[in-house]
Amino acid sequence: MTSPKSRHWALIPAAGAGRRFGAERPKQYLDLAGRMVIDHSLGLFTEHPAISGCIVALSPEDRYWPQSRFAEHPYVRRACGGHERSNSVANGLELLAAQDGAEDEDWVLVHDAARPCLHPEDLDALIAVLRNESVGALLAVPLHDTIKQSADGCKVDASVPRASLWRAFTPQAFRLGLLRRALTKAEANNAIVTDDASAVELLGLQPRLVKGRADNIKITHPEDLALARFFLQQQGRLC
Ligand code: C5P
Repeated sequence: MTSPKSRHWALIPAAGAGRRFGAERPKQYLDLAGRMVIDHSLGLFTEHPAISGCIVALSPEDRYWPQSRFAEHPYVRRACGGHERSNSVANGLELLAAQDGAEDEDWVLVHDAARPCLHPEDLDALIAVLRNESVGALLAVPLHDTIKQSADGCKVDASVPRASLWRAFTPQAFRLGLLRRALTKAEANNAIVTDDASAVELLGLQPRLVKGRADNIKITHPEDLALARFFLQQQGRLC
């Protein structure tokens, strides 16, 4: 279903302040094995032959991007980040459409700057699925823990059946035109969407789940950095 002319673009939302992490700088700019977290996250896309270009969405107050090894990269352009992740993604899509000549039918792979351990095989698997996909697809992992529901954050109200539950990862890939429409509608409805698929689901569509690797973690807490270092080492990606 992908027309031979459809291109693939990468969009990296990187405008978060990382308040939960609590470091002196946003988590995407912390050191991870000698490189900034965002440089690990972005590197796979700049090297991938199927990717036509990359957009990074950065906070207007960002002071750290110039230290990125990709700051002057010819395939990487900057968009202005927004208040929420969905606003940052929407701004990146506008830039792609307005200045990079991206078409509505092109695929946009949205990948969190805070996920530095994406494995090249998972990226290839996602791109391969798009050849036969009309709505879009995301990397995800089935949930194995037992899930508890608690209204007050102290006492358990219920256990949630986990058989059909997945953890949504990134990249998440959608056609540029569809994702723009989905995010516009979500914003108009004041819907809270914490990933791109959620916005597309609000249109009544069903993105495809692509089972990915569990090591594609999002850096959220300080202990995640050591874990990410270990995963990159296991993947043979550290010199
Ligand atoms: O906060 P969280 O970890 O869920 O953010 C996921 C990704 O979205 C991060 O890479 C973060 O930098 C980005 N983000 C953004 N704009 C925001 C909030 C988060 O680009 N306003």
